[in-house]
Amino acid sequence: MADTILLTGGAGYIGSHTYVELVAAGYDVVILDNFSNSRPEVIDRLEVISGAPVTVYTGDVLDPAVLERVFVERNIAAVIHFAALKAVGESAEKPIEYIQTNVSGLVNLLAAMKKHGVHRLVFSSSATVYGEPETLPIPEDAPRSYTNTYGFTKLVCEQTLEQVAASDPRWAFGTLRYFNPAGAHDTGLIGEDPNDIPNNLMPYIAKVATGELERLSVFGNDYETPDGTGVRDYIHVVDLARGHVQSVRALIESGESHTVNLGTGKGYSVLEMLKSYESACGHELAYSIAPRRAGDVAASFADPSKAHAILGFQAERDLDDMCRTSWNWVSRLKNT
Ligand code: NAD
Ligand code: UFG
Repeated sequence: MADTILLTGGAGYIGSHTYVELVAAGYDVVILDNFSNSRPEVIDRLEVISGAPVTVYTGDVLDPAVLERVFVERNIAAVIHFAALKAVGESAEKPIEYIQTNVSGLVNLLAAMKKHGVHRLVFSSSATVYGEPETLPIPEDAPRSYTNTYGFTKLVCEQTLEQVAASDPRWAFGTLRYFNPAGAHDTGLIGEDPNDIPNNLMPYIAKVATGELERLSVFGNDYETPDGTGVRDYIHVVDLARGHVQSVRALIESGESHTVNLGTGKGYSVLEMLKSYESACGHELAYSIAPRRAGDVAASFADPSKAHAILGFQAERDLDDMCRTSWNWVSRLKNT
């Protein structure tokens, strides 16, 4: 019988793509989401893509009653925990909400897992735990720090998992440090759909391409990078999703914890991203140079070799794929 995987935040950007890859790999999947940052229509789209009904619990990871119901009703083999608040700027204004959702949410989940004898969890961490990186590409044993409340919550969650893993050898955690997810599903049915003005580069460029926003502000062109603009490691969301399948499979099969970067190992500048998106959408995109954004680092890209060695993970999609699938998704979204 197929193992059942619980996805908290499974209706979100990365969770929905992971749902598709898990079903394709033969797993049974259950979603728990409170739809605070996703739309219920995502579930219909997942049914179209996967060709089968989707099992969803609408509820909050902060609510022990809904967690209890999921673990009683479903024979969960492992959990992938996406549910979190993720806006860096907002996290400074709402530290209590961020710490509550991100840290208490994880602790609630671990308590429910412990009660029901489920000891495998994949955790959505971030390259943000590297703070201002000292070495490029960034290896997993680089020092950890934080520069904002969101980063603080991810670091505390990682440390919480380390404490729990040390307490009982039955626990096994996959801590996945994502670099910069981008792109959308090939079908154009699911992708990133921020409610407000996007903070992140790719969804912002996408809205300039559709005409919803007038121009991109490039935050600084005086960094020590080849063209002076910030460099990041953009990874296609479908590659990222497949990394979760490999991680959860490794946890179930080996019972060993791992902490790995999920990136491509290649960095692209803001201006390179803009040019690549122009090729995908077929028209020029307006931009102007603005001051640096507080807290930004000049460059960040992964050393992806550990994920390859431990999980067999390798990103297969390139920047053209990210821009093409993003454009396909946002242009359909605008016309529906
Ligand atoms: P997202 O906001 O699209 O998805 C998160 C999902 O969790 C949403 O569907 C939301 O409704 C749900 N959710 C939020 N709070 C909840 C709660 N209390 N209970 C139940 N559901 C809740 O975000 P995403 O981009 O898919 O990110 C997923 C995870 O990956 C997050 O933990 C995020 O911090 C992490 N991450 C994201 C990025 C990125 O750039 N997108 C980078 C690094 C790490
Ligand atoms: N940028 C612009 N204009 C914009 C938005 C971004 O020039 O409107 C630039 C940024 O200055 C940066 C690059 O585009 O150089 C990428 O910015 P993003 O906000 O897309 O991504 P970051 O790497 O800065 O942030 C991401 C996640 C955070 C996480 C951080 C650290 O969004 O959640 O990585 O890993 F904390």
